[in-house]
Amino acid sequence: MTSIDRFLPRSGELNARLHQMVPGGAHTYAKGDDQYPEGMAPIITRGCGSHVWDVDGNSYIEYGSGLRSVSLGHAHPRVLEAVRRELDRGANFVRPSIVEVEAAQRFLETVPTAEMVKFAKNGSDVTTAAVRLARAITNRPLVALCGDQPFFSTDDWFIATTAMSAGIPAQIAELTVSFPYGDLDATDELLRRHDGQVACLILEAATQGDPPPGYLAGLRDLAHRHGCLLVFDEMITGFRCSEAGAQGLYGVVPDLSTFGKALGNGFAVSALAGRRELMERGGLHHSRDRVFFLSTTHGAETHSLAAAMAVLETYVEEGVTARLHALGERLAAGVREAAAGMGVADHVVVRGRASNLVYATLDENGQPSQDYRTLFLRQLIAGGVLAPSFVVSSALTDEDVDRTVDVVAQACAVYRKALDAADPTAWMGGRPVKPAFRRFV
Ligand SMILES: Cc1ncc(COP(=O)(O)O)c(C=O)c1O
Repeated sequence: MTSIDRFLPRSGELNARLHQMVPGGAHTYAKGDDQYPEGMAPIITRGCGSHVWDVDGNSYIEYGSGLRSVSLGHAHPRVLEAVRRELDRGANFVRPSIVEVEAAQRFLETVPTAEMVKFAKNGSDVTTAAVRLARAITNRPLVALCGDQPFFSTDDWFIATTAMSAGIPAQIAELTVSFPYGDLDATDELLRRHDGQVACLILEAATQGDPPPGYLAGLRDLAHRHGCLLVFDEMITGFRCSEAGAQGLYGVVPDLSTFGKALGNGFAVSALAGRRELMERGGLHHSRDRVFFLSTTHGAETHSLAAAMAVLETYVEEGVTARLHALGERLAAGVREAAAGMGVADHVVVRGRASNLVYATLDENGQPSQDYRTLFLRQLIAGGVLAPSFVVSSALTDEDVDRTVDVVAQACAVYRKALDAADPTAWMGGRPVKPAFRRFV
């Protein structure tokens, strides 16, 4: 239709090659080219700060970097310096390294609500470990997860509950039940219905905004009254809520909590943290059955732990969470103003905590629309903004944000035209983008 169509020819070829070699064409479903407008899924060559470059020679201001893992921006100097120092000294040994001592100490100082920590590589490693530990401690089979939240683990206890549960025996799905966010009565009812069966409640303590007053404390009391554990998945809230996670911000200490993503600024490191008496069940200081709750070859990888320490120090010393909030607020205000200016305020809607913004694209009837998302994403990418969400990194500058708002304004002008035509297809450039979780291809 326009020059946009031929914007990314080399990326197109490489996406096709990836699909020949890698099922899904990416190593995370959320990065798949099916979630981008046709012909507009860039293959990245490098990143620096808030920008990335693709194989076609384009540069982009990037949001949501590394699925929210690169919160300080790409190739962050302080993180790289710490990593480089370790690279020359060996990556993994037959016994724990001094870096494991230092990283545990640094983590526990930064998240003072946690008494012990164990590191691994993926968020899923640690959420699954939390679930197993809770089951072992309570001797109960069921896990209750917050059904309003999108993702907890690649493991069966969670994937069994999704639209992509093929390959998981139905009996596994029966072991996971769900509760709604913010509704203590409904959760109480669930726990009564499964009296004495639920090992833990697992949730993200906050997603779109602050929890209702008293909710998290009420949930903890409820869990304990029913003899189960409270687990906070802090994969995103650590450290977008505060340097000490949601538990630090809201002052409610969960029994166990799990961290990942931003912890390594792109290097692979995750953490299970929690109360000493619970975590010790995975240790050697008790006389009960041992629990194989978390033991990974690569959990000790020195340069990733060094990255984690540098990240934690940077967050505290440079006030990174506050900066993420300030950038997000500037962006949200700018996007809202741009959308209003173009007459699409009710259709391009920014939501969420300022440090973790997402957007909705709504059609003429105010319904979520993949067609309009396709149109919007296409305009953003053409304008040099790679933004499947508006999740900020601290490397963004005010100029980056202002430039993004300009591109959003242009996209909103096109959006308005499509709304007026009551048909976005002319601006979609091909098939609509698709959600990551769906049953059929
Ligand atoms: C809230 C939450 N928990 C857990 C995970 C799993 O983390 P990982 O992909 O590192 O296994 C994710 C990943 O997207 C997540 O968003």
